[in-house]
This record gives sequence, C-alpha cells and structure tokens, in this order.
Amino acid sequence: MTQALFRNARIWTPPDTGQPARGPLQARVLSWDRGCLLVRDGRIRAVGGERDVTRGLHPEEVEQEIDCQGRCMMPGFIDAHTHLCFLSPREKEFQARLEGADYLQILEAGGGILSSVESVRSASEEELFARTRSRALSALRAGTTTMEIKSGYGLALEPELKQLRVIRRVSREAPVTVVPTFLGAHAVPPEYRGRGDDYVDEIVNRMIPAVSAAGLARFCDVFCEDGVFSPGQGRRILEAARAAGMGIRLHADEMKDTGGAALAASLRASCADHLLAAGDDGIAAMAAAGVVGVLLPATAYSMRRPFAPARKMIEAGLPVAIATDCNPGSSFTESMPFVFGLAVMLMGLSVAEALTACTLNGAYALGLAGDAGSLTAGKRADLVLLEGETPSILAFHAGVSPVVDVFAAGEKVASKELA
Ligand code: NIG
Ligand code: FE
Repeated sequence: MTQALFRNARIWTPPDTGQPARGPLQARVLSWDRGCLLVRDGRIRAVGGERDVTRGLHPEEVEQEIDCQGRCMMPGFIDAHTHLCFLSPREKEFQARLEGADYLQILEAGGGILSSVESVRSASEEELFARTRSRALSALRAGTTTMEIKSGYGLALEPELKQLRVIRRVSREAPVTVVPTFLGAHAVPPEYRGRGDDYVDEIVNRMIPAVSAAGLARFCDVFCEDGVFSPGQGRRILEAARAAGMGIRLHADEMKDTGGAALAASLRASCADHLLAAGDDGIAAMAAAGVVGVLLPATAYSMRRPFAPARKMIEAGLPVAIATDCNPGSSFTESMPFVFGLAVMLMGLSVAEALTACTLNGAYALGLAGDAGSLTAGKRADLVLLEGETPSILAFHAGVSPVVDVFAAGEKVASKELA
C-alpha cells in the first residue's frame, strides 16, 4: 500500500453527484485554498482542507509528500472527441479555406477527409502509431489524462482495423487513458461514390461485426450531415452497433440542422457532438433524454463559423462538455487549455461551467465518470497543477499552456520542469 499526500494546493473540482452536471449545477465547483489530496495505490482516498485530510493520518503512513506550492490543482482534462489517429495535418486545405473554399465542397471533390483517408490507407502501422502517440503525448503535456480517439480515415475494414489497433497500442504505451471509437461512417469512400446505402450495408454487415469481435471499439460514431450520412442511415448504423455491444454517439448538426440532435435523443446516445446548427427542439429533446452535448469550439474557430449556442444549451438543461475535435482538417489542436479559453472568452461559459465541461461532463459522455472527471474519493488520481491560483488562468494566460505538472493514477507523467 503506497500513499502520497499532495499538500498546499488550491484545489478546484466539480462535485460528482452521480449524473452529468446540467443547468445551474454545471456552475457548481468545490474549492479549497489550502487543499490536500491523499492518494493510495493510484486512487484518491481523501480530498479537502489540510486539516480534514490529515486528521488521524500518521506521518509513517505517507511515503511521499508533494508540496504543490499554492498552485491550482484540478482534475486532468477529459478530451471526449478526437480524431487523433491521422498522418499529417492538411495545411494547404486550411489555406484554401482561408481564401474562401468550402469544407463540404472540398470533401465532395475528393479532398478533405478523403485525402487523409488516402494517406492513412498507405501508411505503415508503425508510422501511424508514431504520429498518433506523439500527438497523444503533446495532449498529455497540456493536461489531458483521458481522451477518446476515433478511427474514420480507413473507411474499409482493413484500414479501419489498422487504425483501431494503433489506438489500442497508444492506450497501452502512453500514460493516458484512451477510449476507442469506430467511425467507419466518417465519409463515403471513393469505391462507393454515389452508393452510400451500399457502404452502409458494408458497415452494418461486415465492419461492425468484425470490430466488435476484435473488441477494438468502445463506441460507434456517425458523421450525420447533409451529403454525408442521413439520419436514417445513422440510425441503421447505430442500432447495429448497439446490438453488437458498442456505445453510440454521433456528429450531429455541424453545418446544418439535419435532425442529428433529435436522432441522438431518440436513440438515447451517450452524446451528440458539434451541434453548431442544432435547433431548439433537438436541444430540448437531448436534454430530456439525458444525452450529453459535446461542443467543439476549436472547429468553429478553424472554420470561422459562429460557436454553438452554449449558453442557450445550459439554460435548456443540456449537460455541456467541451472537447478539441483534434483532426487534420477542421480542428488542428490537441490543446484542452485552448478550447477552455474559447469556451470562457467567446462562448460565454463561466470558469466553473467550463471546468465542468472539460472534465466531469466529458467523463460522463465517455461513460467513465466512475473513474475520472473529478477529484472525488474513489476515483483515479488523474490531476494537473497549473501555474496560477484558479482555472481562470487557462483563459487568461492565452496561447500557452499554464499546465505545469500532470499526474495519472497518482504518478507524475508530464512536467514543464522536466521538459
Ligand atoms: O469532427 N466533421 C467531420 N469530421 C471531423 C473532421 C475531420 C477532418 O476534416 O479530417 C470533425 O470536424
Ligand atoms: Fe469530429
């Protein structure tokens, strides 16, 4: 039994009430000015004020004491939506978009997601692993201790399995908790051009059974969008995935309101993501069905589009999470501090709401709140120390990461001082 005591921290954490935090509860945080956190065997044993945590604790019971020097301690970030497993960012396409090219038209012309598909299909598994791992470590240095990673640049059974194996290897070889998602329905591949329904058959009849038999994905996702997959196709895929034992989620109403939010509600998906164009009815239906809304402000930033109506969503009782959407096209960032800053400065979230969105509600979206997402006794000791007194420093000290140290299961896994 090894115990470690973190002392002299300014602790900030959402409380975990057993459900995603919604409405006014999204702004509830617990904080202690001279806080202490006791860790045993990688799990949080106690958290609170110094006196409460150390009462009855004998010095010989503590193997290690960590002086946090008054820094802000918060839970490790939960990045609930990434496409981290790709080869290279599409910088030329970014420049073309800055000059007015349209994202969906680029895809329609065989570029965009499909050009990333070409490079992922021809890459060796080793190369894909090296690039994905290096991005996961970069995210970790910026404070992400849990991340979802999707496939979706293979779009055929073998290359999708290759991506999922790479994702599994990252989860084994990097000190970050990884949740793998099968996104075979990210685009219609060139072989099936004009035959979207046939590709959906392939996903339902061949890919989902194979992915599920290999145990390589916890969730299945669909890019539900005009000209990509319709809500009807999305429903078919997600129902098959659920029957095969996967959790379900979707990219919904990113460019247009195509009924993605309503579909997520009627399927009781774990979450629906993007929602830039979601209508009031879809948002209300999601809130009533207990679906988490995962907002991706770095995508709106990179696409120069208005942000999702986060305030309206919180007021409608929708639990809101914030994630990076890190991908080679529409959102090239693995930085949770960056999206935290966007959420506070440009989407109108309070610091407390953003903290909950970037930690606890992300954990609920991934079905991992029993282990992560808040500094609560019994959970894994995944936490970060910031160069600042409160999480507001994440928005204030813009363009750099104020994350100094990152701990996963109580062990230091990244540090500015070691870098
Ligand atoms: O979430 N919208 C679809 N998929 C990604 C973009 C992927 C890409 O452009 O490579 C997204 O934004
Ligand atoms: Fe995405």
